[in-house]
Amino acid sequence: MTIPQIIDLPKILDKRGNLSSFEHPSHLPFEIERTYWIYDVPGGEVRGSHAFREQQEFIIALSGSFDVVIHDGKEEKRFSLNRSYYGLFIPKMFWRRLENFSTNSLAIIVSDKAYNEKDYIRDFVEFKKLADEK
Ligand code: TYD
Repeated sequence: MTIPQIIDLPKILDKRGNLSSFEHPSHLPFEIERTYWIYDVPGGEVRGSHAFREQQEFIIALSGSFDVVIHDGKEEKRFSLNRSYYGLFIPKMFWRRLENFSTNSLAIIVSDKAYNEKDYIRDFVEFKKLADEK
């Protein structure tokens, strides 16, 4: 998987409440090294606005909704996440920003790498240059 894409997850419907899950390699193309979540986002706030040199991620709106805007260095694509039974896979070297968070939304993100600030590209001009060289 080399382009950002929605991955559908199993949905076990049950009158006691539904259940979804994901695992490697059936659903995720990478093994999980880290999990983090974003919550209590004030209205109008934007998260992200960076790319990763090596890290891959998978983002799910566990609750509520938000948009993930992806830029490949040439064009932008918006993914609206609003269900807990699918998520967005983002390979390395894509600029992303998360916005339009609904009240009480909860984003869970799993990654194949431990946190490493050196893996971040936080300057869009630098990202574009590196993306053009690819
Ligand atoms: P950052 O990734 O810049 O947030 P976002 O892209 O969602 O806006 O991270 C914000 C801060 O949190 C930054 O100081 C680094 C720290 N952080 C960790 O310590 N561990 C982590 O796993 C993540 C994702 C961030």
